[in-house]
Amino acid sequence: MPAIVHSLAELQGIRETWRIAGESVALVPTMGSLHDGHKALALEATSHADRCVLSIFVNPLQFGAGEDFEEYPRSLLADEAFLADTLVDLIFAPSVDVMYPEGADSAPSVSAGPLGDTFEGASRPGHFDGVLTVVKRLFDYVSPDMAVFGCKDAQQLFLVRQMVEDHHLTLPILEVETVRDSSGLALSSRNAQLSEIARTQAREIPRALDEASRQLTALDARDCARDILASAPGVSVDYVEVVNPDTFLPLHKDAHAGDARLIVAVTLGGVRLIDNRLLHFGQ
Ligand code: PAJ
Repeated sequence: MPAIVHSLAELQGIRETWRIAGESVALVPTMGSLHDGHKALALEATSHADRCVLSIFVNPLQFGAGEDFEEYPRSLLADEAFLADTLVDLIFAPSVDVMYPEGADSAPSVSAGPLGDTFEGASRPGHFDGVLTVVKRLFDYVSPDMAVFGCKDAQQLFLVRQMVEDHHLTLPILEVETVRDSSGLALSSRNAQLSEIARTQAREIPRALDEASRQLTALDARDCARDILASAPGVSVDYVEVVNPDTFLPLHKDAHAGDARLIVAVTLGGVRLIDNRLLHFGQ
């Protein structure tokens, strides 16, 4: 079972013993309510580093007014038990006061730039500034040698990489493919909020991604996924788009050959779900 620490002093004391021993450290940032997707990140971390810190912090800065900050599931003891069969060494579970001693509202914000206002950021203003602010602070507190993120949150992963570059951090970012349940639905802590019927309806999301991946061009893939999701019962579409994986900018014409990332966001039974898939097209 990993140890749990809540304070910076405890975290940094342990971190220092690892530094002295010459051990490398991987960080896996999470908001808890852990599932097999998070476990896959932990596995990636422990296979690349001597030590693994998994942080659990529901970050108020990345939730907008009227979003589910209060309702977001919290289950620290269950999370600790869930990691018992992994090689995670330490859970860092700070309070808001520990994470933001100056007060969450006074913490200097890391800007996600213009891309932070698109897609997820267009629907959730300020979300990515909040994400990058906490991720940067976790990097500062833990001083990891590498950090691990999931492709499930493709725009987040892109912006974290961009921040690492902009801040000249010499920190490798490892990425892990999306882990899905047997119906193809991407695992998410928010899936627990889905009713039984909504969970069945949510199967249309991976189906749309699958069907789209069989199309011959990026724009056909986008239109195919749009059509499936627009007519899926119970599903309200926020966006369905294809972006250039190197820029995260939308593709507007079919001249693009190579990879495209199809990204989708829908609301189902009051729960917002995102998913994506990397598509490959011939030259
Ligand atoms: P959270 O939603 O808990 O996700 C933590 C990490 O797990 C992220 O890197 C996310 O992409 C990854 N993840 C979630 N579901 C996954 C799945 N089904 N398969 C693979 N990886 C998955 O993302 C956040 O928390 C927060 O924004 C955070 C980065 C911790 C900053 O607060």
